[in-house]
Amino acid sequence: MNIIFLGPPGAGKGTQAQKICDALNIPQISTGDILRRAMKEGTETGLKAKSFIDAGQLVPDDVIIDIVKERLAMEDCQNGYILDGFPRTVPQAEALETFATIDSVIELDVADQVLVDRLSGRRVCLKCGATYHISMLNGETKCAKCGDDLVQRNDDKAETVLNRLEVYHAQTAPLIGFYEKKGLLKKVDGAQGLDRTFAAIMNALGAKA
Ligand code: AP5
Ligand code: MG
Repeated sequence: MNIIFLGPPGAGKGTQAQKICDALNIPQISTGDILRRAMKEGTETGLKAKSFIDAGQLVPDDVIIDIVKERLAMEDCQNGYILDGFPRTVPQAEALETFATIDSVIELDVADQVLVDRLSGRRVCLKCGATYHISMLNGETKCAKCGDDLVQRNDDKAETVLNRLEVYHAQTAPLIGFYEKKGLLKKVDGAQGLDRTFAAIMNALGAKA
């Protein structure tokens, strides 16, 4: 099954994509994680992306489309995948149609006030992409999955979070109508607890937990 996770920053795309990918045994393709890894390694793509990401703006379409096209051609994507954070603009969605067939689009719906709280308390592992909230960590500073340091993302500072929300509403939210017209969109309430949201997504996908 080829799936897109759509939703504002902090909606839980990354958190739920990891759980659903484990359950369905398919890879999670997070463009945000790919770009952050490239920045950490100081690659050419990473250097190009840094100023956009730190300002809460989108990386140019041509940069991101090439990355995803290359990634989806890999062996592990041939039995399905979850796209987490792509597409994010109508031109990206149109480009995706030229090299992939999408079966379902899950829209995670969460109100803006909740998102700001989630993002300001988020801690991430840059090595494996695991995501935590400080309220669940009890002071722990290492990743429970791989042992690497947990850090706060640069773009999770309050001012940048507000920019990211604006960018989402202006540039990414039009994709809701885009996929609704194609009959692919399934809206899921992302403000429920982690387990209930997981169950609601599995149900929307017609998959058994
Ligand atoms: P990206 O990394 O994709 O960021 P984002 O879309 O802003 O989304 P987030 O990762 O912030 O949120 P999420 O929905 O994954 O939430 P999470 O599960 O972590 O992109 C970063 C940047 O890269 C972009 O700004 C852009 O510059 C660039 N970029 C990436 N893709 C691009 C593209 N296609 N085109 C152009 N540029 C691109 O959860 C958030 C927090 O909430 C966590 O702390 C979590 O523990 C907590 N939480 C999650 N679910 C729940 C729940 N149900 N209840 C309570 N807490 C919860
Ligand atoms: Mg994410």
